[in-house]
Amino acid sequence: MYTIIDSLHADHINFSRLLNLLERQVVTLKDGGMPDLEIMLDTIDYLQNYADLYHHPREDLIFRYHLERSDVARAEVDELRRQHRALWESTNRVRLAIDGILHGDIVQRDVFIEQISAYVTQQMDHLNAEEGYILPLLRQLFEVQDWEQLNRSLPYRADPLFGPTVDQQYRALYTRILNVPDAVAESGLGA
Ligand SMILES: [Fe+2]
Ligand SMILES: [Fe+2]
Repeated sequence: MYTIIDSLHADHINFSRLLNLLERQVVTLKDGGMPDLEIMLDTIDYLQNYADLYHHPREDLIFRYHLERSDVARAEVDELRRQHRALWESTNRVRLAIDGILHGDIVQRDVFIEQISAYVTQQMDHLNAEEGYILPLLRQLFEVQDWEQLNRSLPYRADPLFGPTVDQQYRALYTRILNVPDAVAESGLGA
């Protein structure tokens, strides 16, 4: 059965591919080159629109459903919910920084490198916490009727980048991702 957890896992794999793409821009910056700012902005735009506005709220509803029924891993689940809010703010700040550079702001290279690196780490730590502990735990704790109830109540949106149809605004990003075949393997997240 294709569960909600499977779809969250698929999202995590996709996010890790995008984070890998950002990481590659950091390498370029460290080497003294020019990163592809347009691709970085598209990546952040997707993470904002899909991860921050859909994937995380969906997880928050699942986490709330769990906490209404159990105290198991309450502290860890609360921490993930806090991280969702922190990620929202970080994504906004990264977007502002990239937007600013594209509009002529002068930003110190090492400051920008530090910001993007920290953002990638923050995202990866969050994915790994969910993949390594909470999602396997929920898979174990929830019964079929829990998943059925969640399936009925959770919002659903097609993924505009990795879904059946690639939105016009993400076409360039999609093409770029296809050219980074090792992204998943390097990310540390399994399929
Ligand atoms: Fe999350
Ligand atoms: Fe997640």
